[in-house]
Amino acid sequence: MVQPRNRRHDISSAGIVGWRDRDPVAANFFDSLSALFPQGERFFIQSVRHFRDIVPEDIAADVRSFIAQEAIHTREHQLFNDQIAAAGFQIQSLEARTERELSVVKRESALRQLAFTVGLEHFTAVLANQILGDPRLMENAPVETARLWRWHAAEEIEHKAVAFDTLMAVTSDWSAIERWFFRCGGFVEVIFRLAKVAVPNFFDLCRQDVTRPISLRHLVKFFFVKPAIFLRFAPMLAVFLAPGFHPWQYDDADLAEAEVADYSA
Ligand SMILES: [Fe+2]
Ligand SMILES: [Fe+2]
Repeated sequence: MVQPRNRRHDISSAGIVGWRDRDPVAANFFDSLSALFPQGERFFIQSVRHFRDIVPEDIAADVRSFIAQEAIHTREHQLFNDQIAAAGFQIQSLEARTERELSVVKRESALRQLAFTVGLEHFTAVLANQILGDPRLMENAPVETARLWRWHAAEEIEHKAVAFDTLMAVTSDWSAIERWFFRCGGFVEVIFRLAKVAVPNFFDLCRQDVTRPISLRHLVKFFFVKPAIFLRFAPMLAVFLAPGFHPWQYDDADLAEAEVADYSA
């Protein structure tokens, strides 16, 4: 079930700095991703909203909840990013890179923009699965920071098929091969454009943190040994390319349910 939850998080610049002291690679990785979110999620909202009135009612209802969830995520990540800036980091250059790349995508057709969102939503679903499934990712994060990322992750899992189902609904008269080609084309574009933005953004932030220099050994450990982000993400991302793929083929709803069950408790 896609259910928006209007949660607020008490993020402080002291918390931003504290995570860097304990785990600089993870802090830079997640902070640089957070810098992408407000613009990225506004783009997701726009691209899905465009088709809201022409999809069947059950999908349209999920689209409305998707928009509400992403709007609240945008607000909370903007506040999180304000605290990154308050901690002394400059994120305008990161935001400018995102803006530049998104402005190119926004010149494409509405359907192509939707396919781009579908591809990015697969990335966020994989990230969400790892945040909730591997406690090592947040083990050194401040309580409120972990709370924000875990809440966001649960809702990303809940709505991981909404953009996908929207794309399938509006291309229902296409052949299976045309649809496969189109969504995979969008995914390949996502990989290319995300790499162009996320990689320099991560190193940009690392470079700014002069008091906590990150060695090649730290990077190799984080991405390839423990928690081995890259090795864990790559196979999960690749399943998108399989013909007949659907986001719920990999059912991790239990991770999201366990997280949100905690909220009412
Ligand atoms: Fe989100
Ligand atoms: Fe999302």
